[in-house]
Formats: sequence, C-alpha cells, structure tokens
Amino acid sequence: MAAPDCMYWAERGRLAGSCMPRSVEELRGIRKAGIRRVVVLPEGHEIADRWGDGPSYFEALSTFDLEFLHEPVPDMEAPTVGQLVEILRWIGEAPSLVHCIGGIGRTGTVIASWLIVERGMPAHEALDTVRSLRPGSVQSYSQMRFLLDVEENADKIRKLVGSPS
Ligand code: 4NP
Repeated sequence: MAAPDCMYWAERGRLAGSCMPRSVEELRGIRKAGIRRVVVLPEGHEIADRWGDGPSYFEALSTFDLEFLHEPVPDMEAPTVGQLVEILRWIGEAPSLVHCIGGIGRTGTVIASWLIVERGMPAHEALDTVRSLRPGSVQSYSQMRFLLDVEENADKIRKLVGSPS
C-alpha cells in the first residue's frame, strides 16, 4: 500500500513528483498519501510498455479516484510553454502528483517550473531544490534551457495560468 519509493513532495500536501507508478498497490499508496490529481508526462508508447496499453493505466487511476491530465512530453525534452500553462492551470489548488518514467528529467522540469511560477523562485534555486529532493533531476540541455525561459517569462506565464482558457 506504499506510494512509489521515488515519490517526493516539493511542498507537502500540495505538489509531489515521482517515477511511473508500477502497480495498483502504488496507486493506492498515492491516493492514501492524499493525492487527488495526477499529471502524466510519458508518451503513450512508454505507458503501454509498462501497463499493457494506455487506457488500462488511465482506468486504474480512475479506479482510485485519481483525476488525470495526460500531457505527453518526449524523453529528454521539456514541455512547451503551452503545456506548462495547461498543467499549472489544471493542478490548481488540488494536491497533485507529476510523474514521467524515471521521475528525473521531465518531472524535475515541471516541478521546478511550478516553483518558479507559483512560488517565485529563481530558476537556479528551483533547480537546486528539485535536485536536493531527487538527485539528477533535470537531465538535458533543453530542460535546463526551458527553466531559464520560464524564469524570464514568469509574469506572463502567471497571467496565462490565471486567465480562463
Ligand atoms: P524521465 O527520463 O522519465 O524524464 O525522468 C528517464 C529517466 C530514467 C529512466 C527513463 C527515463 N530510466 O529508465 O532509468
């Protein structure tokens, strides 16, 4: 009934990151930890490799009353700014989990972006924070570059997140 070992809270009770859950037991653990919404970053084929097919994973999330948003981001890449806006808007105030496959690259990038946009952290501090929570977080040049773009455009992104879609 335990949440995945790779799960960490960026802010307790508010936003967590993790690798891809491997079993329904881990989903139960995630729900028990208080998570209500799950942002799913892996691409469909990556989910299918681990859960047999995409819909079976999404059905399992629903079984545990976990709402999900699928925003596929290719391995080693960053989300688009549009995807980030969608993600931050959808998370809202709900206790949420962001996950990819390893829980390092894509997840670290989205969690650090949340810290920059929603908590006003400079990019370098957000990077240090996610790396202290999950060593190795943010894996590629494009992910690093994305955090600097988010920092530079934080006010604009905040406005987009706060305005109706
Ligand atoms: P991520 O990238 O899913 O963006 O964190 C990966 C990191 C590690 C592994 C796969 C993807 N891995 O298999 O260890």
